[in-house]
Amino acid sequence: MSTSNGRPLMTVDDYRCRAQKLMSSEGWSFYNDASGRRSTYNDSMEAFDRYVIRPRILRDVTHRTLSTTVLGQPISMPICVAPTSYHRYAHTSAEVETAKGAADADTLFVMSCYANASISDVSRAAPGGLKWMQLYLFKDRRISEHVVKEAEKEGFKAIVLTVDLPFTGNRAFSQKRPSGKYYQDPTFRPENLAIDIPEIHKAIQSGDVCIRRFLEEQGESPQTWDDVRWLKSITKLPIVLKGILTGEAAREAADAGVSGIIVSAHGGRQIDGISSPIDALTEVVSAVKGRGVEVYMDGGVMSGTDVLKALGLGARAVLIGKPVLWALACEGSSGVKNVLSILGAELDSALAISGCTSPNEIPSNLIGRKSLL
Ligand SMILES: Cc1cc2nc3c(=O)[nH]c(=O)nc-3n(C[C@H](O)[C@H](O)[C@H](O)COP(=O)(O)O)c2cc1C
Repeated sequence: MSTSNGRPLMTVDDYRCRAQKLMSSEGWSFYNDASGRRSTYNDSMEAFDRYVIRPRILRDVTHRTLSTTVLGQPISMPICVAPTSYHRYAHTSAEVETAKGAADADTLFVMSCYANASISDVSRAAPGGLKWMQLYLFKDRRISEHVVKEAEKEGFKAIVLTVDLPFTGNRAFSQKRPSGKYYQDPTFRPENLAIDIPEIHKAIQSGDVCIRRFLEEQGESPQTWDDVRWLKSITKLPIVLKGILTGEAAREAADAGVSGIIVSAHGGRQIDGISSPIDALTEVVSAVKGRGVEVYMDGGVMSGTDVLKALGLGARAVLIGKPVLWALACEGSSGVKNVLSILGAELDSALAISGCTSPNEIPSNLIGRKSLL
């Protein structure tokens, strides 16, 4: 059992409290950032309380499993690691450590294209772990294409295209602070985007501040469904779209031939006032029913009962962002493994008490809306 100053770290919240004490205020503010009045950030967590579990009774739940698959690949539990940028704030080995933790827990690691570690280092550190690569569309598509080709070369199994960031949200931390590690420290460079093209060479030569500015400007690229078709044309890997919250967008995604959808509000970091992912899940799931598209969700998952609610509402798996970063800051890869195991154990218990034996055998009426009376 992990301990924090003698006190065991037994829940996601224990990791949050401990990480806040351990991390620099800059790192904490970056990880904890949200847009606007933080309504969507807060509601992503609070929304889970609007749903209740309706347990089945008198079922034999002696033999249970949490194992499942994502896009046909086996994982030990339906709890995966969401793509988050700049893991160096939490650990000097950055995403290398995170990938090891996820592989030790035998689950999926989705690596952000804004990682501090290189795709090849991550691949070497966790050769047996299932990995997907998250991608943004940069104005200069050569940058995006480079990330895809590296991921293919290193055995990543899918590309996760994030579609909710045509502009960066109006966040408190990201109000373009020119001071601090984020801009100044070369080890905080987004390693996989510093590619071999003259524009990037020029930005690197004029200092690290400039490459980050350059990439931020590059990131706010116009993007349309034609770009999804372009992405399909340059890779054979399955494509997952991240950041969908409506049935309409989900149907368009299915029409565009994607393999998966992540229902996500980007942790409340993009536009404030959008739906919490758990509230949007049912609409998305029913929009693509029978279309062969897997639906996952992220945002606000803090406990095993949250996971059960998401699965009961139709998600194939959930992804967790901040809890992984907190665990990484506290205990590196073993923290990442532990926080995933804590959520797995909580899910196992919730499943058993609800009369279910597996994530794939949850009846569609297990989750209800809390009565307002
Ligand atoms: C510090 C931080 C960085 C993030 N960076 C990315 C990113 O690079 N790409 C992406 O698609 N999502 C990014 N996200 C969004 C997460 O993938 C996820 O949608 C969000 O954190 C919700 O999950 P959570 O409530 O478990 O944190 C980031 C989130 C955080 C907190």
